[in-house]
Amino acid sequence: MSNILTKNKSQIIHRDLKVVWHPCTQMKDHEKIPMIPIKKGKGVWLTDYENNKYIDAISSWWVNLFGHSNTYINNKITKQLKNLEHVLLAGFTHMPAIQLAERLINISPNKIKKCFFTDNGSSAIDAAMKMSFHYWANKGYKKKKKFIALSNSYHGETLGSLSVSNIDLYKKTYKSLMKETIIVPSPDSYLKNDKHTKKQHAELMFDYMLKAIEKNHTHACAVIIEPLVQCAGYMRMYHPIYLKLLRQACSKYNIHLIADEIAVGFGRTGSMFAYEQSKITPDIICLSKGITGGYMTLSTILTTDEIYNAFYDEYTKLNAFLHSHSYTANPIACAAANASLDLFEKNNVIEKNKILSNYIHNSLKDLSMHPHVSDVRQHGMIAAIEMVKNKLTKEPYDWKERRGMLAYQYGLKNGVLIRPLGNVIYFMPPYVIKKKEIDKVINVIKAAIDVATK
Ligand SMILES: Cc1ncc(COP(=O)(O)O)c(C=O)c1O
Repeated sequence: MSNILTKNKSQIIHRDLKVVWHPCTQMKDHEKIPMIPIKKGKGVWLTDYENNKYIDAISSWWVNLFGHSNTYINNKITKQLKNLEHVLLAGFTHMPAIQLAERLINISPNKIKKCFFTDNGSSAIDAAMKMSFHYWANKGYKKKKKFIALSNSYHGETLGSLSVSNIDLYKKTYKSLMKETIIVPSPDSYLKNDKHTKKQHAELMFDYMLKAIEKNHTHACAVIIEPLVQCAGYMRMYHPIYLKLLRQACSKYNIHLIADEIAVGFGRTGSMFAYEQSKITPDIICLSKGITGGYMTLSTILTTDEIYNAFYDEYTKLNAFLHSHSYTANPIACAAANASLDLFEKNNVIEKNKILSNYIHNSLKDLSMHPHVSDVRQHGMIAAIEMVKNKLTKEPYDWKERRGMLAYQYGLKNGVLIRPLGNVIYFMPPYVIKKKEIDKVINVIKAAIDVATK
């Protein structure tokens, strides 16, 4: 039997490759590109089994907010563990779930009154789709079955969430399993004409959305959208006016607006939630990722009494919402989420992040002069740099050249974990990052771009 205390890096990799199938990975790549077993994390730093240290510049897939092994969150989880690790949420409840629901509702717009717990980002999207569809069915709108989403959107990997996503490779591969969705061109500012401002571009692009809503409103349940940043879609960004116009059109045509705040929520774009920048109230808000500060899987759907009340009925009418997960509102996950909200409150995080995001902005500015960089964009604590073959025409590098992979490997050799999306390098750090750590990341990103575009 293999030794459970194996500490040697190559032995660990060997054991891993024998049994673990990794996500989002062509496993054959690991014949050439070694994976990195991580021994421990503290703050923004990850340490491997050879004591190499890496700054987690992407918050471990955008989940980590207050650093790895955060003492405050650790203590809160430990305390919770001593009382209750889990109990089902049907017919039973517990204080961590109640407190979390109250606090999330408190920091949401007035009309948001109910919190439905799910498991992870994708399951929140699936549940939101079911909730919207079922609401309309309960209200007698039996024809409403479709969803409207943006091109280049990403909402997750379960069949429902994948159906409303629009990433080419996924779409092609799993098309025959998916539900048909109405796709509208994204207001992505990167694609704008030089004559227009970002706001004008978003307003012009809204025309496509308006037409789709006008044409499909009788059989569409909802528009589902990632507010302000299409994170998995190469961190493409758009102007907040788009959400304002979308809110007006959804209300006018009786369609729900589902805000997928899974990646952009909890301060990522500079406000607690990205939709706040458009001063709108979505009908359904999906939250996950940073909700537990990056500790464990948990997601929630926040919604209005209008939607909740459409399910509230005599048992025999069979109108109740049909969705559940075994670990719904796991108390340890809720304790982590409550601890994370404590840190937001205690540490004035949103205000402090403004200083950090300005610092990042100023440090990245000169990259826009790079001969192979077509765009340096930022929304709060998300910054992205697009590498191109031709700066003038924005002709991209052939994806087969895997330029992002070169940058990734350069980063790792130099102590920074970046994981580019194709030709886009992005920086989305935990909020506890210090200025000198930002300097290190940015110096490595700059050098990585030189290496990758050579
Ligand atoms: C906007 C958005 N929605 C949904 C998801 C899916 O979340 P999960 O990976 O937890 O299923 C993601 C994940 O990256 C996301 O970025």
